[in-house]
Amino acid sequence: MSKAGKSKTTLDRARPLDRQKAHEIQPFSQVIHMPIALPESAARLSVTNLNQVLADSITLRDLYKKHHWQVAGPTFYQLHLLFDKHYEEQNELVDTLAERIQSLGGISIAMAADVAEATMVPRPPKGREEVPVQISRLLHAHEIVLKEARTMARQAAEAGDDGTNDLLVSDVIRTNEKQVWFVSEHLVDVPLVRAD
Ligand SMILES: [Fe+2]
Repeated sequence: MSKAGKSKTTLDRARPLDRQKAHEIQPFSQVIHMPIALPESAARLSVTNLNQVLADSITLRDLYKKHHWQVAGPTFYQLHLLFDKHYEEQNELVDTLAERIQSLGGISIAMAADVAEATMVPRPPKGREEVPVQISRLLHAHEIVLKEARTMARQAAEAGDDGTNDLLVSDVIRTNEKQVWFVSEHLVDVPLVRAD
């Protein structure tokens, strides 16, 4: 091989092989068998249920960030910090849920457009809202997640999927219940300075 030809081959090997395309290796609707001693029917049920909680948790997480940015008024600073804390905790849940779906042999929902189609949480306006409205939206979203997570936890236990049951009870339900407490106390109408 000529010197020029040899250096071209070397350069080709150094070039990133970008812009590649191929078919999917697993469609979203399919669940593959994983060696975790769990019936496929139980894995399929959990994957479907967990993807719903995942879509709603991603939406709730993003609702917290929206409110973190857009909050206004005398409680701005404390709510700005609290909303971001809850965002981070929901983000942890989102990762735990998504990885549980993958470990069951399913595909976790991931992109915003797909989440928007799947979520049960109503879409908020793009604009800014008052604090009581922001908090009411958050509480409604929490209730959607809590209601479905309790039903799904029971279904997972009945199907023998203890790992999913534990995740839903110990992580999703407990975290959401605690966040509801912290947020809902801001809607209790007690005097700020002078007692009644
Ligand atoms: Fe921030």
